[in-house]
Amino acid sequence: MKQFDEIGYWSEIKLEIISKYAAAYSGILARQPGLEHVYIDAFAGGGVHVARATGGYVLGSPLNALEVQPPFKEYFLIDIAPDKVEGLRARVGDRRDVHIMPGDCNLILLQEVFPRVRYEDYRRGLCLLDPYGLDLDWRVMATAGSMRSIEMFLNFPVLDMNRNVLWHVLEEVDPADRDRLNRFWGDDSWRRVMYSTAGNLFGWEEKSGDNETIARAFRERLRTVGGPSSREAGCGPNRRSGKSSFSSRGSSNSLGAIRSRHDPKT
Ligand SMILES: C[S@@+](CC[C@H](N)C(=O)[O-])C[C@H]1O[C@@H](n2cnc3c(N)ncnc32)[C@H](O)[C@@H]1O
Repeated sequence: MKQFDEIGYWSEIKLEIISKYAAAYSGILARQPGLEHVYIDAFAGGGVHVARATGGYVLGSPLNALEVQPPFKEYFLIDIAPDKVEGLRARVGDRRDVHIMPGDCNLILLQEVFPRVRYEDYRRGLCLLDPYGLDLDWRVMATAGSMRSIEMFLNFPVLDMNRNVLWHVLEEVDPADRDRLNRFWGDDSWRRVMYSTAGNLFGWEEKSGDNETIARAFRERLRTVGGPSSREAGCGPNRRSGKSSFSSRGSSNSLGAIRSRHDPKT
């Protein structure tokens, strides 16, 4: 198993955007009397990467979050890969405010983390969802969207979608891969978004949408289905990484936030 993941420059940009967003978020929340705010990294990784361009080390999202000032009250760092968890533990050291949680974030978030960030307990959380592929369950996003206490960054895994599911002829796709997209999307309505029978005389279902189409449809879905309190801040595909991600308002870059609606000040 490789000790470090190699990352492209787009991932370095992503990391920089998240760091800046986390610092702004923490600064604003720290000024709200009576509120505690936490950082959640559901696909945390090992904490350090190697830059493909330079060969140098680059801090990953969880270690960047630990450097944010003012600090978060607690940090929940989850990863399913034992070697990543081990690396993270070694790099973070023994800290009472940091919870390193090995396992599947789809279970851990719903069962252990979100219940500790309840609106009515005056807790708020910034939750980073940065999967490599279709590893995320819609129920996590829908729950976060309905809680009013969670602000969520999602790196939209369009590369995995295109490579394994959104083929020209859907019938040729492995049903297991289709199921992975169903799980991420929450149902199979992506099919109506991305496929049409209008392009041929025989009524065959053919791909008609592109990256923009699927990203726009997901954004709309989060707004309308992902809990009445969900709203998002914009999105755009990152053509170089093959990922699309939801971008913060005003940013021309590719990562950003989906936010639960709560008191404007918080
Ligand atoms: C893109 S990397 C995360 C990089 C990290 N956010 C950063 O920027 O430094 C994705 C990570 O998700 C982990 N992973 C994949 N499926 C997971 C799951 N179901 N639950 C938790 N972690 C998972 C992988 O082991 C991998 O370390």
